[in-house]
Amino acid sequence: MTLGETIRYRFPVFEHRTYLNSCSQGALSDAVRAAYESYLGTLEAEGSLWGEWVDRTEQLRRAYAQLLHAAPDSIAVTTSASAGVASIASALDFGERNTVVTTDLEFPTIGQIWHAQETPWRTSRARPARPVGRDDRRPNRDRIGHPLSATATEADPTSQRSHS
Ligand SMILES: Cc1ncc(COP(=O)(O)O)c(C=O)c1O
Repeated sequence: MTLGETIRYRFPVFEHRTYLNSCSQGALSDAVRAAYESYLGTLEAEGSLWGEWVDRTEQLRRAYAQLLHAAPDSIAVTTSASAGVASIASALDFGERNTVVTTDLEFPTIGQIWHAQETPWRTSRARPARPVGRDDRRPNRDRIGHPLSATATEADPTSQRSHS
């Protein structure tokens, strides 16, 4: 019996469909369905069981690490491949080596994430936050922010997005 034959029954959709969409929306297994139902059940019964679900994510990280023969702390569990690539791309200091080699066969979101890194953004200087009220004339110490009127008058023209 092949590996496929031993686990095929865990994916009910295979009983009545030839399922080829294994990229963006993989076939639902009974284990994933059970996990979803368990998660929704705890939301209803207990509210937010933050610690329990973080623990489950850690279990998942360790399982991936075992599968890939890697150290668990070298595995990042993200909500999607695109979110993972965006985190890495935006954290890199490109410096002199500012070319990313890719192909036009790349999945669209991944290509767009790399393109987004090449747009030069200039940001205005950060101003210290200060207490503000609903309008600037009645400051409220519970609210911290940048008064809109001050932001408008102090606006720095170089804060515009640059397309040069
Ligand atoms: C090859 C490839 N890369 C990246 C992605 C993006 O994955 P995600 O939807 O998890 O961001 C997909 C999605 O189908 C894909 O097929």
